[in-house]
Amino acid sequence: MEELYLKEIDEGDETAVMDYRAEYLAAGDEPNGMGNLAEAGSYAEFLAAQRRLARAETCPPGYVPATQYLACRRTDGRLVGMLNFRHALNDHLLQTGGHVGYSVRPSERGRAYAAQMVELVKEPARALGLDQLLITCNRGNIASARTIEKAGGVLEDERRDEAEHRWTRRYWVAL
Ligand SMILES: CC(C)(COP(=O)(O)OP(=O)(O)OC[C@H]1O[C@@H](n2cnc3c(N)ncnc32)[C@H](O)[C@@H]1OP(=O)(O)O)[C@@H](O)C(=O)NCCC(=O)NCCS
Repeated sequence: MEELYLKEIDEGDETAVMDYRAEYLAAGDEPNGMGNLAEAGSYAEFLAAQRRLARAETCPPGYVPATQYLACRRTDGRLVGMLNFRHALNDHLLQTGGHVGYSVRPSERGRAYAAQMVELVKEPARALGLDQLLITCNRGNIASARTIEKAGGVLEDERRDEAEHRWTRRYWVAL
């Protein structure tokens, strides 16, 4: 399997991120692991929102600090996935959202990149002092459930998200 690395987004990533966004949205998948990228009017707006979220002092009310990562392939630098790491859990995240959201661009799926991305985020999570990560997926999302299980996730339960009309599977990954 090809090796990936995680990097935090910055100004230089606009072309790669907007290309990812276009491919992803064209496929019609629910945006995951990419903050407000799907709704943002521009890359600058997306980057500014993620930067506000990155620090407790600027984080909007109701949100916890989070880091937006890009997962890039070491051999060619291609952006293959995006991962959003929430540094703490509020009630919503504890019930259904979890610490980590992720996606892999449609043209790069089937190579277990998401499992590698979850492995890679363990180090910054440990550095923040966490000893476990909550990672969730919809009951029917087999690729995501498999990803979490490969990363060591242990299923705690399934909870009903009444607002979204769906069941969420909740896994804990020990760090
Ligand atoms: C979930 C997602 C990130 C996984 O991407 P990926 O790393 O390319 O995943 P893969 O296609 O390699 O699949 C992961 C595993 O699930 C298995 N899998 C995938 N689809 C499957 C299916 N329909 N039935 C059974 N197994 C399936 C794969 O075989 C693989 O297991 P293996 O490595 O043991 O063979 C990607 O599908 C995605 O971006 N989906 C949309 C966003 C999303 O759902 N994010 C997660 C939110 S919780």
